[in-house]
Amino acid sequence: MRILGLIASYRKLGNTEVLVREALRAAEGEGADVELIRLTDLDIKPCKGCMACLFKGERCNIGDDMPKLLDAIVEADGLIVGAPTYILSPPGIIKMALDRLIELMSPGRLKALAGRRRASGILAVATEPEDWAPFTLPILKLFCYACLTQPVDWGIVAASGPGEVAVDEEAISLARRVGRSVVRALHGGPVEVPRKPNSCPICGESLVELLPDGSIRCPICGIRGQVRIVDGRLELYFKPEELRRSRWELENAIRHVMEVIMPTRDKWLRLRRDIKEALARLGYGRG
Ligand SMILES: Cc1cc2nc3c(=O)[nH]c(=O)nc-3n(C[C@H](O)[C@H](O)[C@H](O)COP(=O)(O)O)c2cc1C
Repeated sequence: MRILGLIASYRKLGNTEVLVREALRAAEGEGADVELIRLTDLDIKPCKGCMACLFKGERCNIGDDMPKLLDAIVEADGLIVGAPTYILSPPGIIKMALDRLIELMSPGRLKALAGRRRASGILAVATEPEDWAPFTLPILKLFCYACLTQPVDWGIVAASGPGEVAVDEEAISLARRVGRSVVRALHGGPVEVPRKPNSCPICGESLVELLPDGSIRCPICGIRGQVRIVDGRLELYFKPEELRRSRWELENAIRHVMEVIMPTRDKWLRLRRDIKEALARLGYGRG
């Protein structure tokens, strides 16, 4: 069993790094092989939007460290992803890598991963986790789903100065728990997921979109539900069948790629001449 730790902080031996290292140590103690990568040590360039990875099934030709990172992510059974909070959300390096994960969504890659059990754990840090980090865990969950892993345990801890978490016993034991949970989940054992009340039954986050028809949707999983009033309090309610509708269920992801993304290629090819003419009429280049 192979577990890969990914650190998204520029601080060497900062809070994120200490937590991810502790989680990996705990996983190693349970018999896992572990590897650590600082995303911030890698050359990760922005996605160019050429779509060759999906439309042609090609490896990305940008020429940076991302193919190496993708291989490490695919080879791993489990991930421990750690990040600080920068302006309410994880730092930009997470989004840079997240966009490039689109390469994993080619139908061939998705199908190749279909039979494998893959789990992830998340460790986040913020000065004020309760009030100033609303997007940190949700975006890190998104990152884990886009790596085609199921987040099984997570936590966000309060810390500011570099390495400060080392003096916080609760934070250290949370990190170790997350490491052990990922190993347990990969062995098929039960893991008690730290769900907050009023959260999505799949990802455990309580960030919801309020839709025009009054229903709600989890922006991470895409499942829909209702807000109900029970004993004078608002409660989120999701029908049991919604549990199968997560956009990250492999068969749903494959359907999305095949039925929504792939046809955009033919549509664009059909319209190519019209687009060129319309751009020329608008004054952008020659027709
Ligand atoms: C640019 C920047 C923005 C930050 N924004 C937030 C924020 O919005 N909310 C918060 O709670 N903490 C914020 N912090 C505090 C960090 O999350 C905190 O210092 C954390 O411990 C850093 O983790 P690290 O040592 O792993 O890098 C910010 C720190 C920096 C440098």
